[in-house]
Formats: sequence, structure tokens, C-alpha cells
Amino acid sequence: MSEWIEIGQVEDVPLQGSRIVETAFGNIAVFRTVEDEFFAVRDRCPHKGGPLSQGIVHGKHVACPLHNWVISLETGEAVAPDTGCTRTYAVKVEAGRVYLGRPSEAAGD
Ligand code: FES
Repeated sequence: MSEWIEIGQVEDVPLQGSRIVETAFGNIAVFRTVEDEFFAVRDRCPHKGGPLSQGIVHGKHVACPLHNWVISLETGEAVAPDTGCTRTYAVKVEAGRVYLGRPSEAAGD
């Protein structure tokens, strides 16, 4: 089985937006920054489970739509003074197509 799941073309993920990928281990939000970098994090805020995919992307961070915690897309960590972490996943772009690293275990709550 491949280590990577193809999720579509680069253009399928809106700039400064995200696309949700449903997996057996929960929804994963694949983000595209204004710099055209891609990041993948679990679509669940470490605060109270808000849908990070609906948040506002700025730089390499996303602001949770529920209570505005700011989460690093690189590490999944909440920016201080908030504390908490959501799981991150590998993502890569090859020949204009986006691939998500296949999740191998359930993300704990
Ligand atoms: S659920 Fe994300 S900030 Fe509260």
C-alpha cells in the first residue's frame, strides 16, 4: 500500500484556504498558504475541537473559527499564551498534484 494518498491538484486547495480529507482516522485539513506551501493537520482544534479547516490562514498559522486560538500549521502547536497541539501530517506536491502522508494510527483525543 502506498505511503501517500493523492488528494487532487494544487488548484483544488484554495489559496489561504484548505481542503478536508476524510480518513479512517478522522478528518485531516490540508492547507495552502499564500506562499503556496502546503500543510496538513488534524481538523480539530486542541482547545475544544473547532474545525480548523474553517479558520483564517495567515502566514503559516490558522486562527480557529470558534475562539480564535492561533495554531501553527508547521507544528500543530497553539501559539502562547494558549497551549495544546493538534496532530500534523506529511504533505508533498509533485508535478502539480498534492499528496497526503497516509495516516497510520488514530489521533488520540
Ligand atoms: S475550539 Fe478552537 S479556539 Fe476554541
